[in-house]
Amino acid sequence: MLVLLLALAPAQAGDAAAGKLLYAANCTACHGPAGDGKGPAAIALKPKPPDFTSAAWWTPERTDAAISASIVSGRPGTGMSGFSQFSPGDVADLVAYLRSFAPPAP
Ligand code: HEC
Repeated sequence: MLVLLLALAPAQAGDAAAGKLLYAANCTACHGPAGDGKGPAAIALKPKPPDFTSAAWWTPERTDAAISASIVSGRPGTGMSGFSQFSPGDVADLVAYLRSFAPPAP
């Protein structure tokens, strides 16, 4: 049923609840369950994963397109490898979930 609902969802409308599941399975080791970059594997990484809970990270350059590109293609020279197996809908869901870590605008 969940799969059916995801399949019917428009590709661009990211679903943060679905993104949370993908994040828990694929991203927490480095990015941490709280999105603060303090996952158990982060200690070994240089550069460190960013802190998605920090307002300072959410500059205007962090567009959905830019974040999506980093997820799909990774960040060369860092521990962030690309997740090219994800569908555009999966990536949109992840972006929606990552945005939920951002602090409310002041
Ligand atoms: C093996 C560790 C690791 C895993 C797993 C991982 N990341 Fe990352 N991620 C990193 C590191 C390290 C960076 C910092 C890269 C840099 O400084 O350019 C990063 C950076 C990012 C960025 C910021 C890129 C930018 O444009 O600055 C996003 C978005 C991101 N990761 C999303 C994800 C998502 C979503 C997942 C799961 C699907 C994931 N990452 C899984 C290590 C990881």
